[in-house]
Amino acid sequence: MKGFLSSSIGKKLLMSLSGLFLIVFLLVHLGVNLTMLFDPIDGTVYNKAANFMGTNPIMKVMEPLLALGFFLHILYGIIVQLNNWKARGSSKYAVVDQKDSSTWASRNMIWLGVFVFTFLIVHIINYYAVLKFGQPPSTHVDGVEMHNTFKLVSDLFEIWWYDLIYIIGFIALGLHLHHAFWSAFQTLGLNNKIWRRRLEIIGDIYTIVVVAGFTIIPLYFLIF
Ligand code: HEM
Repeated sequence: MKGFLSSSIGKKLLMSLSGLFLIVFLLVHLGVNLTMLFDPIDGTVYNKAANFMGTNPIMKVMEPLLALGFFLHILYGIIVQLNNWKARGSSKYAVVDQKDSSTWASRNMIWLGVFVFTFLIVHIINYYAVLKFGQPPSTHVDGVEMHNTFKLVSDLFEIWWYDLIYIIGFIALGLHLHHAFWSAFQTLGLNNKIWRRRLEIIGDIYTIVVVAGFTIIPLYFLIF
């Protein structure tokens, strides 16, 4: 098993499985965040949803799994990239890119990943860390005291440059996903021509939904 995970196909497999897990996480996270737009004045719907996500026992199990998913994805992403650079450096022949890996996004996955990671650090410090270890605002919903996560988010999104950092982060995430989505399935074996085309289309739809969905939120608080 250890030998398999350190082989190049084993590393790619881990990256693809952890990436698919993160792809599902993003959809769930987006769904919860979009509830902010249902009652954008006091944010009761979002606060209830965030409180449910923060206290539900299933989510308590998912949290360390999510951290592990990010950790494995980032670690193996770096290892695969370093191996690629090493292989390219030691090859005496010019490396000819395949057509499918010749897009700008595919050649810059590592840098897009580094950018998304930087965004993630800022994001975790501003939200997750404040909610878990800081003194977040609180509110009462149906007699239950809970974090006013809505206030935390909406106050930050009233700062234009903060929105800009987020929107740039979403664009980098979108470019990363544009290549990552079909590539993850290709690693799992769905790599014939028909499936490649289908997965590219599904991946692009997914990417547009995720990028547009996340972007609407800061824009909403900036404009209204
Ligand atoms: C408008 C966009 C977004 C908003 C408003 C938002 C809001 C939040 C909030 C409030 C939390 C803390 C939740 C809690 O601990 O109760 C959180 C956590 C988190 N966010 Fe986001 N987020 C956004 C986009 C993203 C994106 C694009 C990513 C990934 C690239 C992401 C990844 C995470 C992760 C990994 C956590 C920690 C795990 C969790 O608590 O679910 N978020 N986000």
